[in-house]
Amino acid sequence: MNDNAVKSTPMNYSANRPCADNPVKIMDLSLRDGHQSLFATRGRTEDMIPVAEMIDEIGFWALETWGGATFDTMHRFLNEDPWDRLRILKRHIKKTPFSMLLRAQNLVGYRNYADDVATAFVDRAADNGMDIFRTFDSLNDYRNFETVVRQIKKSGKHFQGCICYTMTEPRMGGNVYTLDYYIAKARELEAMGADSICIKDMAGLIAPYDAYTLVKALKEAVKSPIHLHSHFTSGMAPMSQLKAVEAGVDILDTCLTPYAYRTSHPAIEPLVMTLLGTNRDTGFDIHKLAAINEVLEKQVLPKYKHLLDDSKVSIIDINVLLHQTPGGMLSNLVNQLREMDALDRLGDVFKELPRVRKELGQIPLVTPTSQIVGVQTVNNVLHDTPDERYKMITAQVRDLCYGLYGKTAVPIDAELQKKALQGYSRGENPITCRPAEVLDPELEKAKKEIGSLATNMDDLLIYAQFPITGRKFLEWKYGLAEPPESVKPITLDFVKKQEALVKKAKAGELVERKTAENIPPKSERSRAFNVFVDGEYFNVEVDPAGGAFPADPPTIRAPATPVAIPAPAPTPFVPSAAESVEGNRLLAPMPGMIIAYKKKVGDPVLKGEALVILEAMKMENALTASSDGVVKSIGFKQGDTVPKGATLCVY
Ligand code: CO
Repeated sequence: MNDNAVKSTPMNYSANRPCADNPVKIMDLSLRDGHQSLFATRGRTEDMIPVAEMIDEIGFWALETWGGATFDTMHRFLNEDPWDRLRILKRHIKKTPFSMLLRAQNLVGYRNYADDVATAFVDRAADNGMDIFRTFDSLNDYRNFETVVRQIKKSGKHFQGCICYTMTEPRMGGNVYTLDYYIAKARELEAMGADSICIKDMAGLIAPYDAYTLVKALKEAVKSPIHLHSHFTSGMAPMSQLKAVEAGVDILDTCLTPYAYRTSHPAIEPLVMTLLGTNRDTGFDIHKLAAINEVLEKQVLPKYKHLLDDSKVSIIDINVLLHQTPGGMLSNLVNQLREMDALDRLGDVFKELPRVRKELGQIPLVTPTSQIVGVQTVNNVLHDTPDERYKMITAQVRDLCYGLYGKTAVPIDAELQKKALQGYSRGENPITCRPAEVLDPELEKAKKEIGSLATNMDDLLIYAQFPITGRKFLEWKYGLAEPPESVKPITLDFVKKQEALVKKAKAGELVERKTAENIPPKSERSRAFNVFVDGEYFNVEVDPAGGAFPADPPTIRAPATPVAIPAPAPTPFVPSAAESVEGNRLLAPMPGMIIAYKKKVGDPVLKGEALVILEAMKMENALTASSDGVVKSIGFKQGDTVPKGATLCVY
C-alpha cells in the first residue's frame, strides 16, 4: 500500500480529522496569479479585505499577494499604491506568510535594473511585510539572482528559487531542456542557498508523467523542499499535481475556485477532497473554503466577471498543447494582430514563432521573454519582405542580443545578432558578464528626475521602474493631476444597476427615451458604457447625481451595431497638428504609447535614423526615417497614446 492510500475512517470534512504525517503544503495564489491570470490583474485591495481574515484561517503554507504584474497594473490602471496593498493586507492577515513573484534583476518590471535599484526594492519589500521571495529569471540565468538574493538573505527572508519549465518538444526531452538540465539548475539554486525550489510551469506545459519524473529526480538531487507551480491552461495541471504528490512534492500552488482554472491554476477544493484521509492530507476544512467562495461569488466577483475572456466556451486552450504557447502570450499575440487588423495572420505567427525563438537562443517563454519573442514574431510576419528578415527589430531584441538579459540556453543566431547590434548604443560586441555589471546606478538619476514628487524610497522605486506611468501615478497620488474615470473603482451597487438594465433590455422593457427638456446637464464625472443586448447596442452614459455614484436611470441612446460586452469607453483620440503639415510622414505602424522623440523640430535627419520610440505591447520600437530631411513637425509628446496610422512626425 502506498503513502497515499486512505488510512483512516471515519473521515470528515472539517479540520479536526487525524493529521497526516506528511501533509502537502499549499500556497494560495488567488490574490496575485489568480486575478492576474483571469481578470487582467485588476483585483483591487478593497475586494481582498472581505475574505482576508477567512483565508488566514485555512492553514495555507503561504499566500501569494504581490509581485508579477500587480505592481504595474495597480499604479497604472487602478490608481492604487502597490506598497499600500502589502501593508493593508498584512493588517488583516497575521498568521500566514506572504509570498511575492520577483522577476530577479527585472524586479517587477520588464528589463534588468541596476544593482542599487534591485537592492533597494528587495529591502523595501521585506520591510513592508514580504516574507517569501519567489524569484525567477526568464533565461534561467542565475547570475541575475545574485543581487536580489544577497538582499533577501540579508533581510532574513525566505529565498525560493524558480526553474522556468519550458520545452522544445511536445514532452520533456529534446536537446536543451532535458531532465539533466533541470537537475543542474536545481543544484545551482541549492548552492545559492535556496530555502525552497519551485518548478515554474507558467504555460501549463508539464505533462503528468514528466512531473512525476522531474519531482522524483529533484527530490533525490537536492535537499530543499520542491514546489510545483503549474498553470491549468492546457488542462493537465490537476493530473500533474497528483503525480507530483506521488513523487513526493512538498508544496503545491492552487487558487480558490472563483480564481481557478482557464489560464489560472487548479482549484484547492478538489485537491483537498482527493487527499482527504491519506498520508498527504492537507488538513484543510472544506466548509471554511466554501464560506470564502460564497463571499467572493456574491460580493466580489460580480465586479470582475466582465473581464473574464468568455469568447470561448472551452476552459482549456488547445493551442498550448499544439504550439506550447503560454496562454498570456497567446492573448497578447491575438490582441496585437487585432489592433493591426491582421488577425488572419495568426497561422503565420504560429509558424514564425518557433523560428524566432530558436534564433534568439531557444529561450523559455515567460515574462518578459514571451513578450520579446511574441512582438518580434508579429513584427516579422507583418513587416518582413521575401529578401529581408527582421526588418523591424525591437529595442528589447537588441538588448537580448547584446546580452543584457543574460545568457541564452543556446547561442543566438550569429547573423541576427550582428544585424541587431548594428549601431546599438552600448556597442556592437555582445557582453558575456552578469548583465547588471554594465548598468550604471540608477537611483540617484531617478531621484533627480522625479524631484520632490517622490516623497520616500517607495515612491522613488515606482518611478525608477515605471518612469512614465509611475510619474502619472505620483501626480494622482499627491493631487497634482485628476485621475481619469477609468482608474476609479466601481461599486457592487453600480454592477447591480447595470445588470438590471441589461435584464430589462432583454425583456424589452428598456426605459423610454427622455425628452430634451428633462435631461439634466452632463457632468464631467459621466462615464460611458456600451451595453449589448441580443445583438442590439446601447450607449449608456452613467452620471453621478447627488454625490452617490451611480444614480438615476441612465439615458439610453439609439441602437447601433453589436460589438462586445459593457466596457468603459476609451478616451477620444485627438489628431495632432502634424496631420496638416506637408512632407514625409512618419505614421504609427501600430497603436502604442510615445516613449520619446529622438529629434526636435528643425533637426536634420538621415535615412535610417530613429525619429520616435513607440511602445507597443510593452516593447519599444524605434521608428526610423525612410529618407533624409529636416524635422518639420512633431505630432505628440511623451506619454501620449496614439492609434495606428497617426502622424507622429513630418520631415
Ligand atoms: Co504563474
